[in-house]
Amino acid sequence: MERSLSMELVRVTEAAALASARWMGRGVKDEADDAATTAMRTVFDTIPMQGTVVIGEGEMDEAPMLYIGEKLGTGEGPGVDVAVDPLEGTEIVAQGTWNALAVIAIADKGTLLHAPDMYMDKIAVGPAAVGKVDINAPVIDNLKAVAKAKNKDVEDLVVTILERERHTKLIQDVRDAGARIKLIPNGDVAAAINTAFDNTGVDILLGSGGAPEGVIAAAALKCLGGEIQGKLVPSNDEEISRCHKMGIKDLEKVFYMDDFCSGDDAIFAATGVTDGELLKGVQFKGNRATTQTVVMRAKSGTVRFIDGEHSLQKKPNLVFK
Ligand code: FBP
Repeated sequence: MERSLSMELVRVTEAAALASARWMGRGVKDEADDAATTAMRTVFDTIPMQGTVVIGEGEMDEAPMLYIGEKLGTGEGPGVDVAVDPLEGTEIVAQGTWNALAVIAIADKGTLLHAPDMYMDKIAVGPAAVGKVDINAPVIDNLKAVAKAKNKDVEDLVVTILERERHTKLIQDVRDAGARIKLIPNGDVAAAINTAFDNTGVDILLGSGGAPEGVIAAAALKCLGGEIQGKLVPSNDEEISRCHKMGIKDLEKVFYMDDFCSGDDAIFAATGVTDGELLKGVQFKGNRATTQTVVMRAKSGTVRFIDGEHSLQKKPNLVFK
């Protein structure tokens, strides 16, 4: 992959963030998602790559754009797999809370997992704890391992968990172990990425969220030298048969970093839509708007934070009517 694609991807996530941020706090998530998707799709037409969506807005018959299998880019340049979440945290934007992101990851063709749209159990950690956790191990063992790797006490750890009924036992186990918890309403991609940045104060992500989000988080953690492990959680016969069709016979299979993203290169970009621990959200200031983006590449290990300032006069579609 060309390294110059990194900057192109920043343009993609900035456009999606700017468009969806207009919907912050308006109580409607589909409009926010549509705005992000349309903006993202439009910018792709200008990018010199031969992309195929492997993680997107749904199957071809479910989503008008950015659907799985859709071809993206100008048709010139490298062949890449594309994983997008134009708006990760639709409900976050609807409510105006924390950590909504516009996200994209690309990797060499054929290297990203085509994860089915169902729940996946996840454990994610930053570089310090790579190789120390095991999704099949008891919660207490993983917490002790992360604490040891980070030279902390278990009581010092911050564990991020989606606040869901299905996590009642998990939350109790973490509390019994003595660790601290950050319960989040949505957005486990940001939560996974945050484990790799010391300044976020987050040590580990536990619990189940979307499997497609797991692939996106894996691409980010590949760039950051972190780790995610996942196990699909099919909840009915239809989901089980989808796993079988994908060739996943063993439903207990653990997906490791190389299963999510098998190549040695990936580029990941995320722009904050609402404020989060890592990225500031979009701010509108009269005829200008600001964005904050993180963009990183696995091959070089480079991580860049990019502050963008955008003229709304030159982008009249971003002026809310
Ligand atoms: P959306 O942006 O599609 O709304 O996803 C938000 C999210 O919180 C993800 O971060 C997470 O993986 C998933 O939803 C969890 O699903 P559920 O809300 O069904 O528990």
